[in-house]
Formats: sequence, structure tokens, C-alpha cells
Amino acid sequence: MAQIIDGKALAAQVLARTAADVAEIVAAGGDAPGLAVILVGNDPASEVYVGRKIAQCRKAGIRSIEHRLAADTPQEVVLGLIDKLNADPKIHGILVQLPLPRHIDAALVLDRIDPGKDVDGFHPVNVGRLSTGTGGLVPCTPLGVMMLLDSVIEDYRGLNVVVIGKSNIVGKPVSMLLLEREATVTVTHIETKDLPDVARKADVIVAAAGAPHLVRGYWVKPGAVVIDVGITRVVDHDGNTKIVGDCATHELEHAKAVTPVPGGVGPMTIACLLSNTVTAAKRAAVA
Ligand code: GUN
Repeated sequence: MAQIIDGKALAAQVLARTAADVAEIVAAGGDAPGLAVILVGNDPASEVYVGRKIAQCRKAGIRSIEHRLAADTPQEVVLGLIDKLNADPKIHGILVQLPLPRHIDAALVLDRIDPGKDVDGFHPVNVGRLSTGTGGLVPCTPLGVMMLLDSVIEDYRGLNVVVIGKSNIVGKPVSMLLLEREATVTVTHIETKDLPDVARKADVIVAAAGAPHLVRGYWVKPGAVVIDVGITRVVDHDGNTKIVGDCATHELEHAKAVTPVPGGVGPMTIACLLSNTVTAAKRAAVA
């Protein structure tokens, strides 16, 4: 049987460490780290994610300040709010929940965030730092994926890793992190030829395609480690909504280890957001 990597338990450890860091900062006379969360419009999934992020901040002692803006808020107003938050020394992290309404240019908005406060790691400066291995803030989901992998892999040198999906949020940044560890990384996507054959050569698969149960048992070689980043909401025959990953996990008994959905990558993403906020606050204190 494949080992199930418990993302919930690992996230709890990261959250406990983050809460301890916050307590230490406050005990030394510093301000509690502050995270501003901007939500434009009322996308139901985004509301759920933002609610979870705020609730976890509270538990860790991070001050979270929520800015809920109407769906028709002009782009200039969002940019003006970011300028104000960039200049506020009590705000250490700024997160703009994606997707943004269509009339807003997401790239322009993300570019406006001070890279030192960009706890999502989406600003081009942080993307550049990641690709050159020169520090910066690392996107939360890839950071969480690496922590999950670190719980079962000691040495990545020469391992064949196949990343499925080339998004800016997961596929590209996780590939950079794995390259830094000297894995041999193959980034695949919707146009990749013979994807099952490519996947079958992998020691590690990171599935981040957003395609429910794309990765079948025969795609995975015995003893491989499989990280499932997919979270797709599907409605079953009884009309119940459930969350489905990118992997047919029930077909992966021959893998070495797999992450479940839910309870794998998801909890790690929020935990890493909080830890990035503390990292940003610590760096601001010594800047
Ligand atoms: N929407 C989906 N995933 C993310 C994420 O990691 N960060 C932000 N800001 N929005 C998202």
C-alpha cells in the first residue's frame, strides 16, 4: 500500500511554528505581522478561500485586514489601495485573491505590490529571484509541495520529476524549486505527446493540471511519489459537491507515497501563506 502523506498534520506543524514565531516577534516588542487580503467581487470559491486564510491568520496571531471590494470596483481604486498598503509599515503582506473581475488587468495589479510584501510570490521580481535561486518570496502552493516531498524524499539529485501543468501559480515555480535541488525536471502540459509514457518514467509526479483523475494507475511506475495539486469541485450522482484531485488515487497502491485530496496540498498552501507573511515581516524588520 502507498503511504498517504498527511498534509493536514504537516500544515498543523507549520502553523504551530508560525504561531511561535509571531509570539516571539511580539514578545520582543515588535508589531504582530499584518496581512492585507483584497477580494474583488463575490466569486464563491474565492470567498471560501479568503475566509479560511483569515481564520488561520487569527489562530496564528497574524493581524489580517480584509478589503472586500464590489465586483465593479474600478481598476484605479484597486491600484490606489495597493499603493496605500505598500506604504503602511504595519502591513507586511498583501494578497490579492485571484481571479479578478475581467475589467481588471491582473498582471498590472500584481506588479503594483511591493515585492517585499508579495506573500503570494507572484510579482515578477520574486519570479525572477526564484528562477535565479536568489531568495525572494516563494509562491505558497509550490512551497507546500516541497515540504510534502521533503517528508518522504531526502535527496533529489538526479531524480526524474514530471510536473503536469505549466501554470505560473504551481507548475513553473515548483519546477524551479525542484531544479534547485538538482532533480531532472520535465514540465508537461496539455500539448505534451504520449503523456502517460512520459509520466511512467518519473520517480516523482507533481500533478497540477486541474483535470480530475487525469493520472491513472498505469501512468505511475511502482515506487514513485505522487503529489496531487488538483482541486476540482464536481457534483456527484446524488447532487452532492465534492472535491476531486488530478489523480485516480485508488489506482495508486503501487506508488511509494501519495497525497490525498482533500487533506494533502490544500492545507499546506494556507500554512505557507502565513509562514511567508512572517518571513516578510522579519525581513522588513531588518531592512
Ligand atoms: N486563487 C487561486 N489560488 C490562489 C493563490 O494561491 N493566491 C491567490 N492570491 N489567489 C489564488
